[in-house]
Amino acid sequence: MITSNGYFGKNVMAAEWTMQISYNPLLIAIFLHESSVTLKNIRETREFGVNVASDKQSTLVNIAGGYSGSEIDKLKVKNSFTFLKSKHIKSPIIANCAINAECQLFFIKKIGDHVMVVGKVVVIRYDETKKPLLYHTGRYYQIGSLIEPFRQKVKVNKCTFDWFLKEAKGKFILKCTGAIIKSGRKVLFLKHVKNSMTYGTIPYLKPKRGVNYFQSIQKYLKGHGLKVRLKPEPIVKRLVLENKNRIQRVNFILFEGTTRSISSQILLQKKDDALLKAFYN
Ligand SMILES: Cc1cc2nc3c(=O)[nH]c(=O)nc-3n(C[C@H](O)[C@H](O)[C@H](O)COP(=O)(O)O)c2cc1C
Repeated sequence: MITSNGYFGKNVMAAEWTMQISYNPLLIAIFLHESSVTLKNIRETREFGVNVASDKQSTLVNIAGGYSGSEIDKLKVKNSFTFLKSKHIKSPIIANCAINAECQLFFIKKIGDHVMVVGKVVVIRYDETKKPLLYHTGRYYQIGSLIEPFRQKVKVNKCTFDWFLKEAKGKFILKCTGAIIKSGRKVLFLKHVKNSMTYGTIPYLKPKRGVNYFQSIQKYLKGHGLKVRLKPEPIVKRLVLENKNRIQRVNFILFEGTTRSISSQILLQKKDDALLKAFYN
């Protein structure tokens, strides 16, 4: 719900097209139709409030979106809106919302048949106990159950687990890229050494953010004197490594490859390696 003040008086409208578009500065964009009283108010006073409705406020949103401020004084509708004291702006702020942001006009531009109004947040309040109201195909909804993207569970031994735990450095998800290199019926394993721990597994590395994964693993293999042909199609493996009561999420981007000659490297087929099996399934 967008609150405003101006020539047309204090007002509120519903705006589903509302989104955060920058962290620093904290910016929120709203998209308003030309004839809305709210837009006229914002053009005049260059400020507005963004009030993210809670799932208990669908009636209020319905009022805000169902009538124009030119038709009725929405904010004075009996038994409806209650307000908080705004700190920086003269627009009202609606109570019992999930988020209240006081905004100053940062940018305004007509885009297609609506006007994009970007506000810089000068004061923000939120109530984590309140769940935001959802609006989809003209109806109101509550937030439903959590959806976890599929992650394959892999029971690994203590050594494997400790290795990846250390690699993750406390991160919720460890991101890796690796190569599965076959030669005949065997798979290439390399020795990785870190902080006096040694671990043998497929060649893999933690790529730097923004750096091309395929090129990184190619470079890595070349650095080990390995002549391999990698297929460029990335294979996504989202795993959760389990050891007793401990878990670590690991996202692998794998590339399959082949090689003819590996002289000094360890080329192994480890049928009992749970992690390796997960890569193949
Ligand atoms: C749930 C809901 C979401 C809406 N979202 C938008 C929106 O994003 N942009 C817009 O221009 N109008 C939107 N509307 C329509 C306006 O809220 C409506 O035109 C309102 O009467 C404008 O009020 P005003 O003239 O007092 O500013 C929405 C309406 C509803 C019910």
